[in-house]
Amino acid sequence: MADINQTIEQLKSQIDMINLPKHVAIIMDGNGRWAKKRFLPRNFGHQEGMERVIEIVGAASNLGIKHLSLYAFSTENWKRPLEEVQGLMKILVQYIMRELDKLHKNNVKVQIMGDIEKLPKYAKDEVIKTMRTTSQNTGMILNIGLNYGGRDEIIFGIKNLLIDIEMGKINIDDLNETNFSNYLYTKGQPDPDLLIRPSGELRLSNFMLYQIAYTEFCFYDILWPDFTEKHLLLSIIDYQKRNRRFGGI
Ligand code: IPE
Ligand code: IPE
Ligand code: MG
Repeated sequence: MADINQTIEQLKSQIDMINLPKHVAIIMDGNGRWAKKRFLPRNFGHQEGMERVIEIVGAASNLGIKHLSLYAFSTENWKRPLEEVQGLMKILVQYIMRELDKLHKNNVKVQIMGDIEKLPKYAKDEVIKTMRTTSQNTGMILNIGLNYGGRDEIIFGIKNLLIDIEMGKINIDDLNETNFSNYLYTKGQPDPDLLIRPSGELRLSNFMLYQIAYTEFCFYDILWPDFTEKHLLLSIIDYQKRNRRFGGI
Protein backbone atom coordinates (compact mmCIF):
# COMPACT_ATOMS: atom_id res chain seq x y z
CA MET A 1 0.00 0.00 0.00
CA ALA A 2 1.30 3.40 -0.97
CA ASP A 3 1.48 5.95 1.82
CA ILE A 4 3.00 9.32 2.53
CA ASN A 5 5.71 7.87 4.80
CA GLN A 6 7.34 6.08 1.89
CA THR A 7 10.23 7.71 0.03
CA ILE A 8 9.78 9.39 -3.34
CA GLU A 9 11.66 6.46 -4.94
CA GLN A 10 9.40 3.91 -3.27
CA LEU A 11 6.32 5.80 -4.47
CA LYS A 12 7.69 6.19 -7.99
CA SER A 13 8.36 2.45 -8.19
CA GLN A 14 4.61 1.88 -7.73
CA ILE A 15 3.69 4.02 -10.73
CA ASP A 16 3.06 2.40 -14.09
CA MET A 17 4.93 4.79 -16.36
CA ILE A 18 3.05 3.58 -19.44
CA ASN A 19 -0.30 4.47 -17.91
CA LEU A 20 0.50 7.97 -16.65
CA PRO A 21 -2.36 10.47 -16.72
CA LYS A 22 -1.75 12.60 -19.80
CA HIS A 23 -3.35 15.64 -18.22
CA VAL A 24 -3.40 16.49 -14.51
CA ALA A 25 -5.43 19.44 -13.21
CA ILE A 26 -4.99 20.93 -9.74
CA ILE A 27 -7.16 23.36 -7.77
CA MET A 28 -4.52 24.94 -5.56
CA ASP A 29 -6.63 25.79 -2.54
CA GLY A 30 -6.03 26.44 1.15
CA ASN A 31 -3.31 29.12 1.18
CA GLY A 32 -5.33 31.49 3.35
CA ARG A 33 -6.08 28.85 5.99
CA TRP A 34 -2.44 27.78 5.99
CA ALA A 35 -1.42 31.35 6.86
CA LYS A 36 -4.22 31.81 9.38
CA LYS A 37 -3.11 28.72 11.30
CA ARG A 38 0.26 30.45 11.72
CA PHE A 39 -1.25 33.85 12.60
CA LEU A 40 0.21 35.27 9.37
CA PRO A 41 -1.46 37.50 6.75
CA ARG A 42 -3.13 35.51 3.93
CA ASN A 43 -0.57 36.60 1.36
CA PHE A 44 2.12 34.66 3.25
CA GLY A 45 0.06 31.60 2.41
CA HIS A 46 0.01 32.57 -1.26
CA GLN A 47 3.79 33.05 -1.17
CA GLU A 48 4.30 29.61 0.35
CA GLY A 49 1.81 28.20 -2.16
CA MET A 50 4.07 29.44 -4.96
CA GLU A 51 6.96 27.36 -3.60
CA ARG A 52 4.72 24.32 -4.01
CA VAL A 53 3.90 25.36 -7.58
CA ILE A 54 7.62 25.24 -8.35
CA GLU A 55 7.95 21.81 -6.71
CA ILE A 56 4.90 20.32 -8.41
CA VAL A 57 5.64 21.74 -11.88
CA GLY A 58 9.17 20.29 -11.69
CA ALA A 59 7.93 16.93 -10.41
CA ALA A 60 5.19 16.63 -13.03
CA SER A 61 7.50 17.57 -15.87
CA ASN A 62 10.24 15.14 -14.70
CA LEU A 63 7.75 12.36 -14.38
CA GLY A 64 6.60 12.83 -17.96
CA ILE A 65 3.17 14.39 -17.46
CA LYS A 66 2.33 16.07 -20.77
CA HIS A 67 -0.30 18.57 -19.62
CA LEU A 68 -0.61 20.23 -16.21
CA SER A 69 -3.40 22.71 -15.46
CA LEU A 70 -3.12 24.81 -12.31
CA TYR A 71 -5.96 26.96 -11.00
CA ALA A 72 -4.32 30.08 -9.64
CA PHE A 73 -6.97 32.84 -9.76
CA SER A 74 -10.65 32.48 -10.56
CA THR A 75 -13.12 34.93 -12.11
CA GLU A 76 -14.72 34.99 -8.64
CA ASN A 77 -11.52 35.74 -6.75
CA TRP A 78 -11.84 39.47 -7.66
CA LYS A 79 -14.41 39.59 -4.84
CA ARG A 80 -11.59 39.39 -2.30
CA PRO A 81 -10.20 42.48 -0.55
CA LEU A 82 -8.13 44.64 -2.90
CA GLU A 83 -5.01 44.13 -0.80
CA GLU A 84 -5.18 40.36 -1.22
CA VAL A 85 -5.96 40.55 -4.95
CA GLN A 86 -3.05 42.91 -5.56
CA GLY A 87 -0.69 40.85 -3.41
CA LEU A 88 -1.70 37.62 -5.11
CA MET A 89 -1.25 39.13 -8.57
CA LYS A 90 2.26 40.32 -7.63
CA ILE A 91 3.19 36.90 -6.23
CA LEU A 92 1.96 35.19 -9.41
CA VAL A 93 3.90 37.54 -11.66
CA GLN A 94 7.03 37.19 -9.50
CA TYR A 95 6.74 33.42 -9.86
CA ILE A 96 6.49 33.66 -13.63
CA MET A 97 9.43 36.09 -13.86
CA ARG A 98 11.59 34.03 -11.52
CA GLU A 99 10.83 30.71 -13.16
CA LEU A 100 10.73 31.68 -16.84
CA ASP A 101 14.33 30.69 -17.63
CA LYS A 102 14.02 27.36 -15.86
CA LEU A 103 10.66 26.58 -17.47
CA HIS A 104 12.07 27.47 -20.88
CA LYS A 105 15.21 25.37 -20.31
CA ASN A 106 13.00 22.45 -19.29
CA ASN A 107 11.11 22.80 -22.58
CA VAL A 108 7.83 23.68 -20.76
CA LYS A 109 5.24 25.56 -22.80
CA VAL A 110 3.27 28.01 -20.65
CA GLN A 111 -0.29 28.86 -21.60
CA ILE A 112 -2.67 31.07 -19.70
CA MET A 113 -6.27 29.95 -19.37
CA GLY A 114 -8.52 32.89 -18.67
CA ASP A 115 -9.24 36.42 -19.79
CA ILE A 116 -5.92 38.25 -19.46
CA GLU A 117 -7.42 41.53 -20.70
CA LYS A 118 -8.71 42.22 -17.20
CA LEU A 119 -5.34 41.74 -15.52
CA PRO A 120 -3.27 44.75 -14.42
CA LYS A 121 -1.01 45.85 -17.29
CA TYR A 122 2.27 44.69 -15.73
CA ALA A 123 0.78 41.24 -15.16
CA LYS A 124 -0.65 41.03 -18.66
CA ASP A 125 2.69 42.08 -20.21
CA GLU A 126 4.58 39.49 -18.21
CA VAL A 127 2.27 36.59 -19.05
CA ILE A 128 2.29 37.51 -22.74
CA LYS A 129 6.11 37.55 -22.68
CA THR A 130 6.16 34.15 -20.98
CA MET A 131 3.73 32.62 -23.47
CA ARG A 132 5.73 34.04 -26.40
CA THR A 133 9.10 32.88 -25.05
CA THR A 134 7.91 29.33 -24.47
CA SER A 135 5.51 29.02 -27.41
CA GLN A 136 7.75 26.70 -29.46
CA ASN A 137 8.59 24.38 -26.56
CA THR A 138 7.60 20.77 -27.02
CA GLY A 139 7.72 19.41 -23.45
CA MET A 140 4.98 19.67 -20.86
CA ILE A 141 2.21 22.19 -21.47
CA LEU A 142 1.61 24.18 -18.28
CA ASN A 143 -1.83 25.80 -18.31
CA ILE A 144 -2.15 28.46 -15.63
CA GLY A 145 -5.72 29.48 -14.78
CA LEU A 146 -5.56 33.23 -14.29
CA ASN A 147 -8.84 35.11 -14.17
CA TYR A 148 -10.22 31.75 -15.23
CA GLY A 149 -13.80 30.58 -14.87
CA GLY A 150 -15.27 27.47 -16.44
CA ARG A 151 -18.54 29.22 -17.33
CA ASP A 152 -16.69 32.27 -18.61
CA GLU A 153 -14.59 29.97 -20.82
CA ILE A 154 -17.70 28.34 -22.33
CA ILE A 155 -19.25 31.73 -23.09
CA PHE A 156 -15.95 32.97 -24.58
CA GLY A 157 -15.98 29.84 -26.74
CA ILE A 158 -19.56 30.36 -27.89
CA LYS A 159 -18.83 33.97 -28.86
CA ASN A 160 -15.88 32.89 -31.00
CA LEU A 161 -17.89 30.05 -32.45
CA LEU A 162 -20.66 32.47 -33.51
CA ILE A 163 -18.09 34.67 -35.21
CA ASP A 164 -16.74 31.65 -37.12
CA ILE A 165 -20.27 30.58 -38.11
CA GLU A 166 -20.98 34.07 -39.39
CA MET A 167 -17.75 34.06 -41.38
CA GLY A 168 -18.60 30.66 -42.82
CA LYS A 169 -15.59 28.96 -41.22
CA ILE A 170 -17.78 26.32 -39.62
CA ASN A 171 -21.25 25.07 -40.42
CA ILE A 172 -23.58 24.83 -37.43
CA ASP A 173 -24.56 21.28 -38.39
CA ASP A 174 -20.92 20.22 -38.20
CA LEU A 175 -20.56 21.33 -34.58
CA ASN A 176 -19.83 18.48 -32.21
CA GLU A 177 -18.30 17.87 -28.78
CA THR A 178 -14.81 17.48 -30.21
CA ASN A 179 -14.68 20.55 -32.41
CA PHE A 180 -16.39 22.69 -29.76
CA SER A 181 -13.42 21.97 -27.48
CA ASN A 182 -11.29 23.88 -30.00
CA TYR A 183 -13.05 27.02 -28.78
CA LEU A 184 -11.81 26.55 -25.22
CA TYR A 185 -8.54 27.75 -23.68
CA THR A 186 -7.30 24.14 -23.72
CA LYS A 187 -7.70 23.88 -27.50
CA GLY A 188 -5.85 20.88 -28.90
CA GLN A 189 -5.18 19.34 -25.49
CA PRO A 190 -6.73 16.17 -24.07
CA ASP A 191 -9.24 16.49 -21.21
CA PRO A 192 -7.81 16.11 -17.70
CA ASP A 193 -7.54 12.47 -16.63
CA LEU A 194 -7.01 13.43 -13.01
CA LEU A 195 -8.15 16.41 -10.96
CA ILE A 196 -6.60 17.03 -7.56
CA ARG A 197 -8.01 19.40 -4.95
CA PRO A 198 -6.38 19.84 -1.58
CA SER A 199 -7.88 22.00 1.23
CA GLY A 200 -10.73 19.66 2.17
CA GLU A 201 -13.35 21.36 -0.04
CA LEU A 202 -15.33 18.93 -2.16
CA ARG A 203 -16.26 21.14 -5.11
CA LEU A 204 -15.02 22.34 -8.48
CA SER A 205 -15.34 26.09 -7.89
CA ASN A 206 -15.91 26.72 -11.60
CA PHE A 207 -12.79 24.89 -12.84
CA MET A 208 -12.69 23.30 -16.32
CA LEU A 209 -16.40 22.51 -16.35
CA TYR A 210 -16.51 21.36 -19.98
CA GLN A 211 -13.29 19.35 -19.91
CA ILE A 212 -13.91 17.50 -16.69
CA ALA A 213 -16.82 15.29 -17.82
CA TYR A 214 -14.97 11.99 -17.22
CA THR A 215 -12.07 13.11 -15.06
CA GLU A 216 -11.06 11.11 -11.97
CA PHE A 217 -11.03 13.17 -8.74
CA CYS A 218 -8.62 13.07 -5.79
CA PHE A 219 -9.51 15.25 -2.83
CA TYR A 220 -7.05 15.82 0.03
CA ASP A 221 -7.64 17.11 3.49
CA ILE A 222 -4.42 19.12 3.54
CA LEU A 223 -3.79 22.72 2.50
CA TRP A 224 -2.04 23.58 -0.77
CA PRO A 225 1.18 24.89 0.90
CA ASP A 226 1.51 21.43 2.51
CA PHE A 227 1.00 19.58 -0.80
CA THR A 228 4.27 17.95 -1.85
CA GLU A 229 5.65 15.86 -4.70
CA LYS A 230 4.73 12.80 -2.61
CA HIS A 231 1.05 13.78 -2.67
CA LEU A 232 1.23 14.11 -6.45
CA LEU A 233 2.76 10.62 -6.71
CA LEU A 234 0.14 9.20 -4.32
CA SER A 235 -2.68 10.66 -6.38
CA ILE A 236 -1.23 9.12 -9.56
CA ILE A 237 -0.97 5.73 -7.84
CA ASP A 238 -4.59 6.12 -6.72
CA TYR A 239 -5.64 7.19 -10.24
CA GLN A 240 -4.02 4.10 -11.76
CA LYS A 241 -6.23 1.87 -9.62
CA ARG A 242 -9.44 3.41 -10.93
CA ASN A 243 -11.62 1.62 -13.44
CA ARG A 244 -12.57 4.24 -16.02
CA ARG A 245 -15.62 3.15 -17.92
CA PHE A 246 -16.70 6.33 -19.74
CA GLY A 247 -20.28 5.10 -19.59
CA GLY A 248 -19.44 1.63 -20.91
CA ILE A 249 -19.32 -1.58 -18.92
C1 IPE B 1 -5.54 29.71 -2.72
O1 IPE B 1 -6.16 29.43 -1.53
C2 IPE B 1 -6.48 29.74 -3.87
C3 IPE B 1 -6.63 31.07 -4.45
C4 IPE B 1 -7.78 31.54 -4.74
C5 IPE B 1 -5.45 31.86 -4.74
P1 IPE B 1 -7.19 30.41 -0.84
O2 IPE B 1 -6.70 31.80 -0.86
O3 IPE B 1 -8.54 30.19 -1.39
O4 IPE B 1 -7.12 29.85 0.65
P2 IPE B 1 -8.32 29.48 1.60
O5 IPE B 1 -9.20 28.54 0.81
O6 IPE B 1 -8.99 30.74 1.96
O7 IPE B 1 -7.67 28.79 2.74
C1 IPE C 1 -10.74 28.01 -6.14
O1 IPE C 1 -10.53 28.30 -4.81
C2 IPE C 1 -9.95 28.94 -7.00
C3 IPE C 1 -8.51 28.72 -7.01
C4 IPE C 1 -7.87 27.75 -6.40
C5 IPE C 1 -7.76 29.67 -7.78
P1 IPE C 1 -11.50 29.26 -4.00
O2 IPE C 1 -10.94 29.35 -2.62
O3 IPE C 1 -11.69 30.52 -4.73
O4 IPE C 1 -12.86 28.44 -4.02
P2 IPE C 1 -14.11 28.48 -3.05
O5 IPE C 1 -14.51 29.91 -2.88
O6 IPE C 1 -13.69 27.86 -1.76
O7 IPE C 1 -15.14 27.65 -3.73
MG1 MG D 1 -9.99 28.84 -1.03
